[in-house]
Amino acid sequence: MVDLYGPLYRNVAAHIDAERSHHLSIAGLAAAARTPGGLRALSALAPPRDDRLRLRLLDLPFANPVGVAAGLDKNAQAVEALIALGFGHVEVGTVTLRPQPGNHTPRVWRAIEQQALVNAMGFPSDGAASVRARLLRLRPRAVIGVNIGKNRDTSLEDAATDYADLVSALFDVANYFTVNVSSPNTPGLRSLQLADGLAAVLARVNEANLGSAAVLELDPRPILVKIAPDLVDSEIEAVAEAAISGGASGIVATNTTTSRDGLPSEFANHPGGVSGEPLRERANHVTRVLYRRVGNRLPIVGVGGIMTGEHAVERIRSGATLVQVYTGFTYRGPAFAATLVKALIADADATGWGHITDIVGLDA
Ligand code: FNR
Repeated sequence: MVDLYGPLYRNVAAHIDAERSHHLSIAGLAAAARTPGGLRALSALAPPRDDRLRLRLLDLPFANPVGVAAGLDKNAQAVEALIALGFGHVEVGTVTLRPQPGNHTPRVWRAIEQQALVNAMGFPSDGAASVRARLLRLRPRAVIGVNIGKNRDTSLEDAATDYADLVSALFDVANYFTVNVSSPNTPGLRSLQLADGLAAVLARVNEANLGSAAVLELDPRPILVKIAPDLVDSEIEAVAEAAISGGASGIVATNTTTSRDGLPSEFANHPGGVSGEPLRERANHVTRVLYRRVGNRLPIVGVGGIMTGEHAVERIRSGATLVQVYTGFTYRGPAFAATLVKALIADADATGWGHITDIVGLDA
């Protein structure tokens, strides 16, 4: 296929402010979904379905293991369009309980040569009520995760209440929740990853989860924990053990990194977290460490620096059962879900595996 998006990106999108260009993409996808025939047009870019990639995980039906990472559709404006493009799940958010503007702009920067983004968004969010209203109007035909985070003006002591209230507020529109305790852009947030903080958050989240399940007569939602890449191996293992003791059902690894390795020196003292290619090796390592420690007890969602189909295959072989992408989608364009799914199918054809779960963790 001719790569139309590459030149389009280099010549047009790359000259617009990074966040503005992102908002235009989301608005474009949302508009396509509202236009008669629009979703059908987008689905022309989607990959074929393949039974070897279908999986039931967390008691949820995934058409394939490739999903959209949190942050790309913070306010659930483009969910149907993203599903039409072939993603097996969409993690919306981070959603905060009350609406908040996030940090001052500019707050997203590109390092094009390095295939990276640097962002200091600080959870701009329409808030739980708006996101719920938007999700309620949809009949999504894929798994919807909701990534939740505390408001900036909520103290760390009160953070657990924010997370619990978010679960109650969004329970009926979420297939699973991801507790985000790993963004580098909300001061102090990452301290909640450490054992006591995580235990306190998960205890309140579980209470809210069971409470809503009982009232609505629905199953409790799987709770995942999203972790930072900037931890030493023993800390990664400690977070994983704390997640298990706290009743979590999975781990999303990883969020953006505070490391500036692989970026030009102008980014040395720059605010924000780095995503994309420079994060890949680190995120892959975290996946391996997690798989070796808890792979038999918890599924891992691998995210960070997946920029090609081969990277997706590699991440799954490192221990991830699902993968997610953000920066790769930004650089490679709307057919990126298809690129990744087709690479998995090609790998199955070439090496003869019968189901995606056959290769999870083979290279861990
Ligand atoms: C993110 N990411 C993110 N993660 C999260 O849990 N909540 C969020 O609100 C956001 N927001 C966000 C904004 C922007 C502009 C970027 C680039 C990233 C992190 C994202 O979900 C993912 O973990 C990392 O970006 C690594 O994956 P990629 O981008 O290398 O595929």
